[in-house]
Amino acid sequence: MQKTTIEKIRETASFLQSQYSTAVEVGIVLGSGLGNFTREITVEKEVPYTDIPHFPVSTVQGHSGKLIFGELAGKKVVAMAGRFHYYEGYTPEEVVFPVRVMHLLGVKTLLLSNAAGAVNTDYEVGDIMIIRDHISFFTPNPLVGKNIEEFGPRFPDMSEPYRKDLIEKAKNIGKKHGYDLKEGVYVGVTGPTFETRAEYRLIHAVGGDVVGMSTVQENIVAVHMGMAVFAASVVTDLGIRDEENVITHEEVLAAAKEAEPKLATLFRELVASLS
Ligand code: HPA
Repeated sequence: MQKTTIEKIRETASFLQSQYSTAVEVGIVLGSGLGNFTREITVEKEVPYTDIPHFPVSTVQGHSGKLIFGELAGKKVVAMAGRFHYYEGYTPEEVVFPVRVMHLLGVKTLLLSNAAGAVNTDYEVGDIMIIRDHISFFTPNPLVGKNIEEFGPRFPDMSEPYRKDLIEKAKNIGKKHGYDLKEGVYVGVTGPTFETRAEYRLIHAVGGDVVGMSTVQENIVAVHMGMAVFAASVVTDLGIRDEENVITHEEVLAAAKEAEPKLATLFRELVASLS
């Protein structure tokens, strides 16, 4: 008989516990161009995705990622170096599978990062935006289907998808370092196309500050399971604003790399501040 989702999640968690037996408190998902953050972690165990039972198999990218277990600012953490995107062809359930596994490993706080395009005209490339709220712009909800009751309710409340106390802590860290952190609304799209000029305008009109191709689905399952979520976007482009500019994946990656040290400090100090 085919295994149910929860059976698979449990098997994967047991396998990972056989590889690294310490409970982890904090989960971290690193966005495009932000993978170097793993250098902040004192690595105790690395497990390639290809070795993990039931993990989505990467068919699109040349190389697949890994889970990194270790210590950061005195806390046991697990970080995903490489996430799964809906645009790669994974189902929404596959995209969020690792976040659900993290829950069974003990993760209570989830930090998400991503690269995003700004539609807020006050933003500049290289800015970091704390995500206060999000809008799903036709990204399928990963909770569609039979509810996993032991994870959370059928109709989860989404009034505080990103925890206010974590946002406050992050703002204080930003102030201390003199960072001009933005705070705003992330609009999640499926990609893989960047937006048309008309779509960037629409996203701005509906109340978005940035737009990106990840994060929303992961946030939804994390909130469903009662995790405290913090997320930040690195502004890697400004959408299409005039008749001239185009957006390339290369510029997105380069801009993310530039802003990475700031984000690393923010995440490290945020983890340190968790009680
Ligand atoms: N749109 C969608 N996703 C993105 C963008 C963008 O402009 N930049 C980086 N990820």
